[in-house]
Amino acid sequence: MRRPIVAGNWKMNLTAKEASLLIENLLSGLKENTETGLMEIVVCPAFTALQTVAEKTKDTEIVLGAQNMHWERSGAYTGEVSPAMLVDLGCKYVIIGHSERRQYFAETDEVVNKKVKAALASNLGPIMCVGESLEERESDLTEKVIREQLLGGLKGIQSEDFENVVVAYEPVWAIGSGKAATAEDAEKVALLIRNILRELAGEVSERVRIQYGGSVKASNIGSFMAQPNIDGALVGGASLEGKGFAELIGNAK
Ligand code: PGA
Repeated sequence: MRRPIVAGNWKMNLTAKEASLLIENLLSGLKENTETGLMEIVVCPAFTALQTVAEKTKDTEIVLGAQNMHWERSGAYTGEVSPAMLVDLGCKYVIIGHSERRQYFAETDEVVNKKVKAALASNLGPIMCVGESLEERESDLTEKVIREQLLGGLKGIQSEDFENVVVAYEPVWAIGSGKAATAEDAEKVALLIRNILRELAGEVSERVRIQYGGSVKASNIGSFMAQPNIDGALVGGASLEGKGFAELIGNAK
């Protein structure tokens, strides 16, 4: 009922030329070893590679996403990129509130909320990231943190818009650490997220896709996808090599 979605977050990696090569390898890998079926496959390059990747993925099953954006349509915001600019390049998704943005660029739930609203208003699907730090987990604050991030990030959003939001559960301690959450622990939080979404928007919460992210790789993706409330993955490191990412996607079915 919920279409699975696997997204590659390339972060600050790959020049346009390298990105182009990755897409070639990904496409040939997908052709070789996978029957991807209903799976939605998204790649999120750096801004500088979006145009190239848009051209390379035209008429393929790969969908384009960005890693961040500003919330205004245009204006005096030096160095920023607007939703309209992303749409113009063919983006369908945009990652919002990744923990690296929260941690290194001071993004608050309020900023995340503005960006989620702006994305929805521009027909971009926000992939809104939430997740607790190790310290928060060890202090039993996971539920509190996830609740605050969801309530803050989704504040004022109409119920009918919820199904266009993807929520990525990414425990901060699992990102880039090689230490993924167990599938059972990830499912517990995914269920918590679904319950909070239900409180906020009712029935439509059943249609919201929830991803797990944090050290996902070809060998563990299957265990996450087998969980009832996990509908996909947000993949960093393991999306940076085309063939390997194709294998991961193949194992996600
Ligand atoms: P990782 O990153 O797969 O390299 O842990 C995930 C993410 O930050 O989205």
